[in-house]
Amino acid sequence: MAEEKSKVDMEKIVSLCKRRGFIFPSSEIYGGLGSSWDYGPLGTELKRNIKDAWWRAVVQERDDVVGLDASIIMHPQAWIASGHVESFSDPLVECKSCHLRQRATDLVGNVCPECGGVLTEPRQFNLMFKTFMGPVEDDASVVYLRPETAQGIFVNFDNILATSRKKLPFGIAQIGKSFRNEITTGNFIFRTREFEQMELEFFVKPGTDEEWFNYWVKERFNWYFNLGIKPDNLHLRQHCDEELAHYARGCYDIEYLFPMGWAELEGIANRGDFDLAQHAKHSGRNLTYFDEESGERYVPYVIEPSAGVDRSLLAFLIDAYDEDVADGETRVVLRFHRELAPIKVAVLPLSRNEKLAPLARDVVAELRRHFVTQYDDAQSIGRRYRRQDEIGTPYCATIDFKSLEDNQVTIRDRDSLGQIRVPVKELVRTLQAKLSGEAFDAQPLWATRTSGAVEQ
Ligand code: GAP
Repeated sequence: MAEEKSKVDMEKIVSLCKRRGFIFPSSEIYGGLGSSWDYGPLGTELKRNIKDAWWRAVVQERDDVVGLDASIIMHPQAWIASGHVESFSDPLVECKSCHLRQRATDLVGNVCPECGGVLTEPRQFNLMFKTFMGPVEDDASVVYLRPETAQGIFVNFDNILATSRKKLPFGIAQIGKSFRNEITTGNFIFRTREFEQMELEFFVKPGTDEEWFNYWVKERFNWYFNLGIKPDNLHLRQHCDEELAHYARGCYDIEYLFPMGWAELEGIANRGDFDLAQHAKHSGRNLTYFDEESGERYVPYVIEPSAGVDRSLLAFLIDAYDEDVADGETRVVLRFHRELAPIKVAVLPLSRNEKLAPLARDVVAELRRHFVTQYDDAQSIGRRYRRQDEIGTPYCATIDFKSLEDNQVTIRDRDSLGQIRVPVKELVRTLQAKLSGEAFDAQPLWATRTSGAVEQ
């Protein structure tokens, strides 16, 4: 069977990201730095929207999850307790001819993929980024950049339990940077050495873990789906016993169909009591929970949904990418879910005619108070629509000469290309409704009112 791949070409995504200011190679003026990427103005907005959507769904819309922002550099003992110093490694092989280093698990055959040379036996390569804390560079001052945000949560379990007055089951969520000295990186922002994670550690009573594990697998799968990822491009893959990490009692990967094939977006693991038990042992602190209902004391089990911000962003970009024909011209359009779109509305005066400018400027000033808004009066209106389509702006508000007479503007919908005419006074309310999911051709709320404060 042919290996499945997304029909979207990664080169097109990389080029669009550069051209429109989503993502640039890091330190480009110095020739770039391997696997590092910088998020430009639109990429920054998109990334914020993804993190906000996750935070809303996982923390703010629930009463059983609280947030944390722990430091990146933690006590080195934490990484000994977690097992990272000892065994957070990948098998590395080196070509004896060209000295290319590769992750053994990435190889298809058993010769060098570059020159066909003979490979060394695999040796374990630790992925922890090491540095020194303070002015002396010796063994006593070695610290690590965290390779996952999760451990910052486990070491704060007791602090949060004591201060938040939460009872089991409850979770602690965190978004932040992680660092791994990956042997091989690539596929744009898919695998890098510096990346961001969105992690939840959900603590439960042992015996209820299976039920909560299934609950979180469903919740997390639906999150991507509800933010517009096409169902055909998303699936769940259960880890087989040999693949399970030593601490895991079960694990599912949510996989996305990337241009290079199916690959992990997020992992959901049942980690049992491994982490709290390890930190209790190494710190000497009591990390048990007293269950008032049953009168028992136990180490909670933990269910961990762990997602990558950058990988999610790549998946949302690829999934949104489309090419179609609009007004007789081929257009590139990013069909982002409205919640994720970096720019929500663009204000476009029909031309640069100075008569249109005052109304257009009033409109943009009002919209900016409510939405991330762009103003564009350069080039033809067609070119400007194309520009907004290519960055995924759901709505354009166009001001024409008729607007000066009837005080109405035209809203154009990115996906259907449909247009509706709306009084300026109703523009914010109409856009709010559309951005909250109201169908584009639905009768606007203001038009259905027969009396009240709304003037037509
Ligand atoms: N705490 C569990 C944990 O870190 P993981 O499967 O190693 O689990 C979770 O990482 C997620 O973090 C992955 O599903 C992926 O989205 C993201 N991730 C991991 N390594 C990455 C890398 N080198 N570059 C970009 N994202 C990465």
